[in-house]
Amino acid sequence: MRILIFSLLAVITLGDSVPLRYQVSLNEAPESRWAHVQSPYAATIKTFAQNYAKYSITPLKLDLLVTLLHRGWITPEFDRELHGMAKTVDITYKEAVFLNFMYEYNAFCTSIVVRLQNGTIIHGRNLDYDSEAFLRNTTVTIDVSKDGKLLYTSVGFAWYLGVGTGISYSGFSITQNQRDAGSKFDNFIALLLGYEGDLWAIRKVLTESKNYDDAYNYLYRAKLADATYYILGGVNADEGSVLVRSRAKTLGSPQLNDTNWYVVQTNYDPWVTDPSYDDRKTVAVQQLLKFGQENMNIDTLFEVLSVSPVLNPSTVFTTIFVPETGYHNTTIRS
Ligand SMILES: *[C@@H]1O[C@H](CO)[C@@H](O)[C@H](O)[C@H]1NC(C)=O
Ligand SMILES: *[C@@H]1O[C@H](CO)[C@@H](O)[C@H](O)[C@H]1NC(C)=O
Ligand SMILES: *[C@@H]1O[C@H](CO)[C@@H](O)[C@H](O)[C@H]1NC(C)=O
Ligand SMILES: *[C@@H]1O[C@H](CO)[C@@H](O)[C@H](O)[C@H]1NC(C)=O
Repeated sequence: MRILIFSLLAVITLGDSVPLRYQVSLNEAPESRWAHVQSPYAATIKTFAQNYAKYSITPLKLDLLVTLLHRGWITPEFDRELHGMAKTVDITYKEAVFLNFMYEYNAFCTSIVVRLQNGTIIHGRNLDYDSEAFLRNTTVTIDVSKDGKLLYTSVGFAWYLGVGTGISYSGFSITQNQRDAGSKFDNFIALLLGYEGDLWAIRKVLTESKNYDDAYNYLYRAKLADATYYILGGVNADEGSVLVRSRAKTLGSPQLNDTNWYVVQTNYDPWVTDPSYDDRKTVAVQQLLKFGQENMNIDTLFEVLSVSPVLNPSTVFTTIFVPETGYHNTTIRS
């Protein structure tokens, strides 16, 4: 019996798994609304946050960063949530801020939006990141509601208050991939100008936007703390796009249409060929073409996201969304 239990556990530990799911109501006070999500992971989060802050930034620079973030990146609501998290996890407010700041700047990912022959849109993503063990351990799915109405489901981390992967029940889905552009000085200027956090902007549209167009227009114009790629899916045949964002504006926006049945975005601008040392996009496109539009569905898109190097050692999770039906499915990768 013992051997049997041990081998079952081994399978669960070594194999892919499904994240735990939590419910959060925005009617709860910001200080306490995330406590039940964070507390099961408190010890893991605390260890990571303290080591990460200690090795990544000096106390003086952290003080300056927090002051700078208060010019706009940290909204009053976010501020209260950060204070709540610091208390739940037993870390300092500044450590909570730093942890929530880091994710924005390191996520390497693949996002794909596919239009089926009947016009249904499927949106998939792999989230790739270093520190993948910590991230896999703290990956959660969160259903967010307000006034008793389910607004959106996000896939992220128990300690992260913004959203990098989410589906709105108003008919759209959004993922974010990192875009490297500009310098630390550009980030400094953007923060000084009070520009919004890139993943806070996603949370805002998932909470407030009425449809795909609303979300697209907001993310098209937002002033952002960092350059980024936003990838959107919707409910109509042409509702699939990438927004190539600099801090101040949108530089380009590939779209689905009658002939363009997929968009694939990794971490390079769409008008540039991906480099030979990181050909995730080339491989993903080959796989899509191998299946063909007529054979695409949630299972084949999952297969595309499971081929190396699209799937790679730093892939934390794979998520598939269908905005038309509200379908979402996340697999934590082993
Ligand atoms: C489109 O096709 C997919 C896959 O066959 C199916 O799951 C979906 O329900 C269809 N959508 C509509 C609107 O018929
Ligand atoms: C992840 O969780 C496992 C099992 O609970 C634990 O042994 C490991 O230390 C954790 N790793 C990190 C980086 O949190
Ligand atoms: C679809 O998009 C492609 C790529 O942007 C473009 O070349 C093509 O003209 C578009 N087709 C239609 C029918 O709009
Ligand atoms: C989620 O995706 C995995 C991987 O494709 C699949 O095995 C599983 O059946 C899916 N679950 C649901 C509820 O669709």
